[in-house]
Amino acid sequence: MTKSIREKEVSHRPAQITIASPKGGVGKTMATILLAGEFAAAGYRVAVIDTDPQLSAVEWSNNSRRAGFALRNITVTAVGTADILIEELGRPREDDILLVDVQGTAAAALGPAVANADFVLVPTKAHVFDVKQCLGLIRHIRSLGGRHREIAYGVMINMVGGIEHNTMAFRTSIALLQQAEARILDAFLSQRPTFAAIATAGSLYEIEASTKAINDARDQTNALAAEITRILNGGNEPDGQG
Ligand SMILES: Nc1ncnc2c1ncn2[C@@H]1O[C@H](COP(=O)(O)OP(=O)(O)O)[C@@H](O)[C@H]1O
Ligand SMILES: [Mg+2]
Repeated sequence: MTKSIREKEVSHRPAQITIASPKGGVGKTMATILLAGEFAAAGYRVAVIDTDPQLSAVEWSNNSRRAGFALRNITVTAVGTADILIEELGRPREDDILLVDVQGTAAAALGPAVANADFVLVPTKAHVFDVKQCLGLIRHIRSLGGRHREIAYGVMINMVGGIEHNTMAFRTSIALLQQAEARILDAFLSQRPTFAAIATAGSLYEIEASTKAINDARDQTNALAAEITRILNGGNEPDGQG
């Protein structure tokens, strides 16, 4: 029995969330593995498709299992070409959620990964150059939806530092997104040693410790998953744009 994250959904197609950004190093794989852990902990079967030649998500999975984490409900598969991706996205599967990690705007995988998505998560650092590149990707996402479909997406600000949001650079980059009427998620991720540790190996939900650092990391991840879930269910109109 499929546990659909989409309330009105009856088909057995998993909800597909594509994680994409023009730049490397902004947190695509971070967001992918955090969401995988979060949805898996909620009882969903999660399939991660790693289309990045760097294979960071695959490495995380291998490292985790070597370190004794079961990564229950999570499978990670490497997909090397756009053709194989199209095949993977189209085949029936038991999973409830499909997370597709895709690197760069020129990658051949971007088209099928975005065109088939129920939601595209666009992580970025709050820096002007990164944000400008994101705007290019957002135009790309809009165009891949074509005239008949609006592909849901959201920009997720990553690596927010303690006081960074008070800086000019932060405010300017947010303003750029707002001017372009890009959808910015309320949920964001702080720069956290806990996240960096999980990116190497593990899951926030397969560690016993419940220190403040881990609980804070879980709260942020949970808020991100909850916001995406609301969007998948057609709710959560963005502020001032709905
Ligand atoms: N919120 C965060 N807190 C701490 N470290 C982070 C955070 N987001 C990403 N990182 C680290 O930054 C690096 C780049 O992130 P990654 O997810 O691999 O980027 P991408 O997949 O976009 O190339 C990785 O070493 C990752 O562990
Ligand atoms: Mg990556």
